[in-house]
Amino acid sequence: MCGIVGYTGPREAYPIVITGLKRLEYRGYDSTGVALLNGGLKVYKKKGRVADLEESIIGKDLHSNIGIGHTRWATHGEPSDRNAHPHTSKSGKLAMIHNGIIENYAQIKKELVNKGYAFTSDTDTEVLLNFIEDIKKNNECNLEEAVRVALKRITGAYCILLIDEDDPQTIIAARKGSPLVIGVGKGEHFLGSDASPMLEYTKEVVYVNDYELAIVRPDELILKNLGNEKITPFITKLDMELAAIEKGGYDHFMLKEIFEQPSTIHDCLRGRLDATAGTITMSGVMNNIEHFKNAQRIIIVACGTSWHAGLLAEYVIEELCRIPVEVEYASEFRYRNPIVNKGDIIIAISQSGETADTLVAIERAKENGAIIFGIVNVVGSSIARISDGGAYTHAGPEIGVASTKAFTGQLAVIMMMALKIAKEKGTITDERYNNLLMELDAVPEKVDAILKSADLLKAIAEKYKGAGDALFLGRGYNFPIALEGALKLKEISYIHAEGYPAAEMKHGPIALVDENLPVIFVATKDSYHEKIVSNMQEIKARKGKIIAIITEGDEVIPGLADDIFYVPAADEIIAPMLSTIPLQLLSYYVGIAKAVDVDKPRNLAKSVTVE
Ligand code: AGP
Repeated sequence: MCGIVGYTGPREAYPIVITGLKRLEYRGYDSTGVALLNGGLKVYKKKGRVADLEESIIGKDLHSNIGIGHTRWATHGEPSDRNAHPHTSKSGKLAMIHNGIIENYAQIKKELVNKGYAFTSDTDTEVLLNFIEDIKKNNECNLEEAVRVALKRITGAYCILLIDEDDPQTIIAARKGSPLVIGVGKGEHFLGSDASPMLEYTKEVVYVNDYELAIVRPDELILKNLGNEKITPFITKLDMELAAIEKGGYDHFMLKEIFEQPSTIHDCLRGRLDATAGTITMSGVMNNIEHFKNAQRIIIVACGTSWHAGLLAEYVIEELCRIPVEVEYASEFRYRNPIVNKGDIIIAISQSGETADTLVAIERAKENGAIIFGIVNVVGSSIARISDGGAYTHAGPEIGVASTKAFTGQLAVIMMMALKIAKEKGTITDERYNNLLMELDAVPEKVDAILKSADLLKAIAEKYKGAGDALFLGRGYNFPIALEGALKLKEISYIHAEGYPAAEMKHGPIALVDENLPVIFVATKDSYHEKIVSNMQEIKARKGKIIAIITEGDEVIPGLADDIFYVPAADEIIAPMLSTIPLQLLSYYVGIAKAVDVDKPRNLAKSVTVE
């Protein structure tokens, strides 16, 4: 949710921390701050963006070889200077930043208030910090020990970084539920919510696990569990270049990531799909193939856009593999006491691999003996590490808050998985199997062709940017794409949009239709085509404005729709990978036309690490 950065070493810490915060700003951007140690603790924090903070401290003495920084997505206490992180302890000697939620903070705050503590913010973080300092004072122990004792008393999720005026080279860090990566340099260490703040300094990183505590000095990294036992840090080599997290000449990350899809889908298929040889190679699937072949059911858990990929997976897996599939909102699945039997397969879909709702849902299912198969984009993320098997989507870093290339990566993995399992189970004919492999192999090229006509969507976006509401309709495999189109428009333009199965309109939502309502149909050629044409006529009859995503060569719908956008022909199972692209572009151009910050839309964050 929030972005966390830290550095200790011989270099100037401030520029490293501030650059790191800018790279993590997609995780939360309502307020920000840094803490440095130079002749005592210096804390600078402010409501607003990192650039606002930078502006406000020009001319200050920012020299320090140690620093921590935070960019916030508010949970406890509205975005403001006093609720911004870092927070300082009562003595003024400790500073702390936190990503997560301390669920029992109110109880602890009461205890501290009874001891005479006063608080300057509304945050759970300031409570935890003073709780730690209180333990340090009463137990006459060092900061590391005080943190360990305090963490045993709290419930919730956290990644915390602390610095201490009396120990000017050390950062104490700990995590449970929120991500923490430590970059190992020569005589220096970097800390971050992900690896982006340290990319140009080191490719050697340690992914810290839940209930681990790190003592970080320039030339020393000690990892321990809350039982005070040492753990050997496991160093992973990063396979990511700086360019991957820069805009590369595009105005926005979202536009860059939309236009990257021909190559990211290709990267996802590469080394796995060989349409000529008629093979799919996915070790994660093959390592669990007996489980898949004998599965009585598959449960998919996810959130947001990933949930839409899960819904499409239900249609595709049931069609090709003949295995019953249930798609669950992770947050509901987590608390509704679902029936999970030993050996059930849970497919967890997540771009970030850190979404708390999905993470805790699969932890619960795992406790009941389920097998977890992760479809994840961020390498080394928590969901990837706790899954029993999985497949990466290889879409590269996705910085824009609105998921685009990761979504098509998820669809590509789902298609390959379903085809592989169907082939192994013998639930698909060789002819259909080979045909779908060819179709999948052709997707990158077709997406490239669609992107060449992106400007057409600019004009449509300009026409409808003033709409207050919008409806997205689709049938069959296009229904999840209609839901995804509605989510994109909501996220990026703040227009209230809803997705529906087109036939569902008659059962209520059609009451919303009038001459002011844009209705976007995802209506590529498929076995539902005639039906969706009738649904279009129902909308037309009530003067609704019809925008239709249709297949090249469609001669019926152009006569019905007010605006059309063509996509290349494809098998109905594969077509959703194409029809989603113009909806991504439409939401982008409407957002731009409305001067929305499309990479950092209000109230959102890229990775939702709190429940
Ligand atoms: C999508 O554009 C949103 N950013 C959001 O709905 C996202 O899909 C959701 O938070 C799930 O994230 P994940 O895929 O990283 O788990």
